[in-house]
Amino acid sequence: MFFCGRNLYLPAAACILTFISVVMLSYLSTPRHSAIPKIIQGSNCRGRTVNSTITALEDNRTFIVAPYFDNRESKITRVIGIVHHEEVTALYCWFCCQPEGEIHVSRGHIDVHLDRFDFPYGAADLLCAEPPTCDPSYVSIHSFSNGNIEQLPRFEIKNRKPEPFSADFTVCISTMFGNYNNVLQFIQSMEMYKILGAQRVVIYKNSCSPLMEHVLAFYIAEGTAEVIPWPITSHLKVSPHWRFPKDGTHIGYYGQITALNDCVYRNMYRSRFVLLNDIDEIILPAKHPDWKTMMRSLQEQNPETGVFLFENHIFPSTVFTATSTDQMDTSSWHAVPGVNILQHMHREPDRKDVINPRKMIVNPRKVIQTSVHSVLRAYTDSVKVPLEVALVYHCRGPLQGQLPRESLIRDTTLWKYNSSLILNVNNVLLQTVF
Ligand SMILES: *[C@@H]1O[C@H](CO)[C@@H](O)[C@H](O)[C@H]1NC(C)=O
Ligand SMILES: *[C@@H]1O[C@H](CO)[C@@H](O)[C@H](O)[C@H]1NC(C)=O
Repeated sequence: MFFCGRNLYLPAAACILTFISVVMLSYLSTPRHSAIPKIIQGSNCRGRTVNSTITALEDNRTFIVAPYFDNRESKITRVIGIVHHEEVTALYCWFCCQPEGEIHVSRGHIDVHLDRFDFPYGAADLLCAEPPTCDPSYVSIHSFSNGNIEQLPRFEIKNRKPEPFSADFTVCISTMFGNYNNVLQFIQSMEMYKILGAQRVVIYKNSCSPLMEHVLAFYIAEGTAEVIPWPITSHLKVSPHWRFPKDGTHIGYYGQITALNDCVYRNMYRSRFVLLNDIDEIILPAKHPDWKTMMRSLQEQNPETGVFLFENHIFPSTVFTATSTDQMDTSSWHAVPGVNILQHMHREPDRKDVINPRKMIVNPRKVIQTSVHSVLRAYTDSVKVPLEVALVYHCRGPLQGQLPRESLIRDTTLWKYNSSLILNVNNVLLQTVF
């Protein structure tokens, strides 16, 4: 259900009301793309090309992440960014048409995502009609339809050229922050993603420890990790909460929602499926050995569906499950900071008044806007995957810490992978930490 998770679990009724109001609003605010762009003759297309992930415009209220070509409905550029929901009222796309160097200016439609949770800033799409006569490679964004383009930063429009799939599964990890140092759990999650079928893991990195940097460098060199710098704290006051605590902060949860949307578009034509979950979560099949066989079966049963929702279950890192050391020797891991997930095979039971939040595997080409626990807009319906097929193994601090151990459910699904997981983790540790 809709954002009932993260740090605070809302009662079911509040969740459903929030969800219904968001769905209703999203029907009322269907985006309108603007008319044919205005042409400025005799200009040229100079400007400095920007490569940073978050770029402030001169109004200091608009932050550009990246423009993407999107012709699924009409020929537009969709610019993913962050805006102040009231103070940004007009934005123009300045397209540069080569080789003549004509500038086409079109007014964009600013579509602030509805899951803003009362923060003043939120994820936004700026939708600009592209010139019908050319396929621009670059766009500049400006608050006005006139001015000097040479002064404006320009951004490369991604997804312009079709490219073949380079991955079946890409995992999008939003916002690593707070000097992250849970190295052992990170490596185990990465190795589980690989065992289950991921070819790529995209990590939006705000901050982490030096040891973690070292491990990230290993995975970048290996070709598994793609680290996107996420310097949102240089631009905005971020809150560690998902809902606005009315404390003067600007945006929730390190801009997680914007990062997830960028990840969907970044991988739209590179990856058959995209997984949207946190680094302490693993979408764990119960019946199938990996994601490929699981998704083949789910896709056969739901041929039209492009959004699959998996129930989140907490395996508290405070509750230990004894392992037989002759089978699972992880004694050398004591020296590594972080949680050893193989020691946590007990999950908390469902609660009567709480809906378990869900995480997703999506076909990115069917998604228009995503939230954290559901999609906001898509060209497809969503399917809830039953617990017998898979769950989200989420190893973190307890949510029902008062429960006695006997009330927890022993679930050793992850242990099925023990031998390959231990082998792979030891191999990474040898090359990084030890
Ligand atoms: C924009 O933000 C920067 C950095 O915080 C600050 O130095 C500058 O004065 C701001 N400009 C405006 C117009 O608010
Ligand atoms: C650990 O993995 C091995 C090899 O796959 C398997 O035979 C064994 O049953 C697993 N252990 C547990 C406790 O699941």
